[in-house]
Amino acid sequence: MDYFEINGLKKLNGIINVSGAKNAVLPLMAAAILNKGSLKISNVPQLSDSITMSRLLEEMGGKVKFNSDNSISLDTSELNKPFAPYDLVKTMRASFYVLGPLIARFGEAKVSLPGGCAWGPRPVDFHLSGLEALGVKISIENGYVVANGKNLIGSEIHFPKISVGATGNVLMAAIVAKGTTTINNAASEPEIQQLCEILNQMGANISGIGSNTLVIEGVDNLDLVSNVSVIPDRIEAGTFLIAAAASGEEVEVVNIIPTHLDSVIDCLKEANINVIIKKNSIIIKSSKNDILPTNIETSEYPGFPTDLQAQWMALMCLAKGTSTIKENIYFDRFTHIMELNRLGCNIKLEDSVAIIEGDKSLVGADVMSTDIRASAALIIAALSAKGVTKISRVYHIDRGYDKIEEKLTTIGAEIFRKK
Ligand code: UD1
Repeated sequence: MDYFEINGLKKLNGIINVSGAKNAVLPLMAAAILNKGSLKISNVPQLSDSITMSRLLEEMGGKVKFNSDNSISLDTSELNKPFAPYDLVKTMRASFYVLGPLIARFGEAKVSLPGGCAWGPRPVDFHLSGLEALGVKISIENGYVVANGKNLIGSEIHFPKISVGATGNVLMAAIVAKGTTTINNAASEPEIQQLCEILNQMGANISGIGSNTLVIEGVDNLDLVSNVSVIPDRIEAGTFLIAAAASGEEVEVVNIIPTHLDSVIDCLKEANINVIIKKNSIIIKSSKNDILPTNIETSEYPGFPTDLQAQWMALMCLAKGTSTIKENIYFDRFTHIMELNRLGCNIKLEDSVAIIEGDKSLVGADVMSTDIRASAALIIAALSAKGVTKISRVYHIDRGYDKIEEKLTTIGAEIFRKK
């Protein structure tokens, strides 16, 4: 099994490029189910999750080709099997995104329940109740969601909590429901905004994009869309900004949309980090000043993303003083604490609040990846640690970061993939 070996305390300098967003490409690939023809998606990140979604589409009768220019060509015209097997759904929760579009296209679907993940149960009850509100009959049989809904009817839906996945899933069915659907407490994440935009290009009628209320006027037929380019990955960008704040001299993170990172930029400034915002990039410049502690909490967009919580924690281990991080999205997303403490960090957990005693000298150690973003936090800490760190189970990071070791090497990190 691959692992990373990192020699710490090397200063990072230069330009680092950001790939297309994992959390945008996966729903866009699911939306291709509704596009009964060929669709070229460009700026696709090379991730194991993109491959999992392509295998899922192939299982159903779709054709997928990965091109050398970071694009994929999808043809779903002959899709004929509205079935998502456990084998594929269990490795990637986002596979569940196919449920809504399959119902919209075939009036039926059988999709495995995703199961839990490293940091908790992660239910799908909002996805199911939202689809039921549109008239879909749902039963759970042997671990599968069996859904039937030939004549969807628009409805007023209110999610008890904002959910990215449930918003996307229900949206992809609601666009062909008869009449109006209103989704209250909908997700406004940029990835959901991009999904709405591509659905509208297909002929859907969604308004309120970017707000927490989406109004969908159902349409009878959808058109073909042939091209879409995935928005930049704000979580990968945020990870590099935080890595640069921890170990950088002057690092420019390029090919990004800076406004997607407003909350992260605010926190970096509060931590006394020198941030220069340009049109499509952000520069982090080190100064002689200390990194200051912060008290932050995660929240839905446009708040500080839960997907950067672990990486921020690694940075706060270097701050002069005590910081806190409250996790509001996944109350038990803290598996990285024990691993960071192995590198010399001093982090305690009280309820869903991590208390970080900063200003510690980190020292390399053997540590283990537990999920995608926890792995990124370990890399950030290891880059600031004296000596060698070995990070095992890097298959987690390969799910969400496109060749991270190659990108970090270009800015001076000593990080090696080994077997
Ligand atoms: C997406 C992102 C993930 C990110 C998360 C929160 C993708 C592919 N993944 O995951 O990277 O960490 O948003 O920003 O885009 N919930 C329920 N019932 C449901 C659905 C969700 O209780 O049916 C709860 C969850 O347990 C969680 C909260 O709602 O507490 C938000 O989860 P959600 O936004 O649905 O996360 P995902 O879409 O799975």
